[in-house]
Amino acid sequence: MLTYSGIDSDAPCDLEALVAEAQITYKDYLGWQNPENSLRELDRIKELAQFIKDNYELVIVCGAGGSYTGARAIIEATDGQSANLTRKTKVVFMGNHLSSLGLQEVLSFVDTFNTCMIVVSKSGTTIETNIGYQLVLRRFKEKYENPYERIVIITGDDTGFLYREHAAHGMELLTVPKDVGGRYSLHTAVGLLPMAVADVDIDAFLAGLFDYRRLTENADNPSRRYACDRRALFLKGKTTEFLVSYDPRMEYYQKWYVQLFGESEGKHKDVIFPSYMVNTTDLHSMGQYLQEGPGNVFETVIDVSRYPVDFDVNLAAFDDCYQAHDHFSLNALKRIVSRATKEAHQKNDVTSLGIELERLDAYTMGEMAYFFMEACFVSSLLFHAHPFNQPGVEEYKQEYKHRLQ
Ligand code: PA5
Repeated sequence: MLTYSGIDSDAPCDLEALVAEAQITYKDYLGWQNPENSLRELDRIKELAQFIKDNYELVIVCGAGGSYTGARAIIEATDGQSANLTRKTKVVFMGNHLSSLGLQEVLSFVDTFNTCMIVVSKSGTTIETNIGYQLVLRRFKEKYENPYERIVIITGDDTGFLYREHAAHGMELLTVPKDVGGRYSLHTAVGLLPMAVADVDIDAFLAGLFDYRRLTENADNPSRRYACDRRALFLKGKTTEFLVSYDPRMEYYQKWYVQLFGESEGKHKDVIFPSYMVNTTDLHSMGQYLQEGPGNVFETVIDVSRYPVDFDVNLAAFDDCYQAHDHFSLNALKRIVSRATKEAHQKNDVTSLGIELERLDAYTMGEMAYFFMEACFVSSLLFHAHPFNQPGVEEYKQEYKHRLQ
């Protein structure tokens, strides 16, 4: 169960009319609210994931932006960043950059492992993704007799390059629903197939996500409160938000939040800059900035109440001031540090909002995913931004296309 604690639970947060109007204005973009879009291909997703796990040692997930961030976020949050060391079918990501070194690194895995590829692009036209696909396919052709059998395409546009490749070569095809935008698509085939291959319990993930969705049928829900609090803090001069976790495995989840809010809200001069910190690691770097920097910051801290593992640590061994604590729970220590840090940051007028998760697993990651998507939708409305488009992203594409003509 996700619990949100904001700045003032009695402050008015009446967004009913605004949201009701937006449900009409943006009706063509609201497919992420519809469970049907998750369930339609679920059986096929599970079958394909099982087939991939039974037959391949490595799967390359090739996608950019919303076409990979969510999957990577949930896989790493539930299984850790180093899970590939022990996984039977390893999962790597590509198709989100133009680095020859980065691409070479992944291509070298094709030489080592029996590999397949999931290519994800709603438009089917993203250059980073298409280059990744092209280079891996070229390597597959050198190595395997039936290269196309090793490829699954997930696309939404039946005119894009990837769809045409599917039409010409008959690879497996899953679809991105027309009314679901990239950064809101982690609970469709886009996220679910890579997650299932990485052994994420996708039924639990969807259960958490849709249990939380039910909460949003109530006008007074945690996502709307969070959106109202962000807006209120912004109006007080808090123009930067740090999403803070205390688990390194959450880093990609936090990057997903940055993408979600950055791409949705970042359409005017007056918006919140979304950033993140993984503590306690970043207390040794950006912690300084929060403690004594400009103070135009608020933080949203994710705490987890229960972990399946703990360690007994001897603090007394380090310093006399810890004398009474020769047996101390590491999880309890982390909790104390989290509370103490919030209080310390308060001295620089840094306000802390809080998200408390009971556990860190597929279910709670699903809950929190919907919490943020709903919050981002509503918050974008409060910042007068179209929550679902990204016209600014097109600008750099136009610029480089111009140079290539
Ligand atoms: O949120 C979005 O729509 C974007 O981040 C896209 O996901 C990203 O640009 C990739 O687009 P596509 O899936 O068309 O390759």
